[in-house]
Amino acid sequence: MAHSLAQPLPAAAAAPLCRRQQAAAARQQRAALPRLAAAAAAEKAAVPVTFSIGGSEVTVDAQPGQNIWEVAKDAGVDITLGCSQGSCGVCEVEVWKYSSGDSSGSNGVARACIAGIPPGYQRLEIREMAVDDFWSVDGYDT
Ligand code: FES
Repeated sequence: MAHSLAQPLPAAAAAPLCRRQQAAAARQQRAALPRLAAAAAAEKAAVPVTFSIGGSEVTVDAQPGQNIWEVAKDAGVDITLGCSQGSCGVCEVEVWKYSSGDSSGSNGVARACIAGIPPGYQRLEIREMAVDDFWSVDGYDT
């Protein structure tokens, strides 16, 4: 009998795993558990955050997800606010993120009033926006 294009092809039934395959799959799952637990713990662990703002440098521990502006305020660091809603860009900071063994880091711009401490990094540095000598504003297009 010819198969109609309008009907889906019958799905191939998954072959049941033999005992050896089941044991191998169980071993793989058990082996992955410590790595998954370590990764989950790293996501939740406090991370040292260094604020280099206003000519001073302050380092505090912060939890991933905590609001950057609030962490700064609690550390005695003043980040200027405008709208407090993520619209104006007055509170923009550079966020440098360092992973384990990463000395150069990667950076991005965050609006401190709404942005959280990013998870999964060994340490962070939060700096004032760079000032462009030519345009006399920050080096970004916002
Ligand atoms: S204060 Fe306006 S964007 Fe943060």
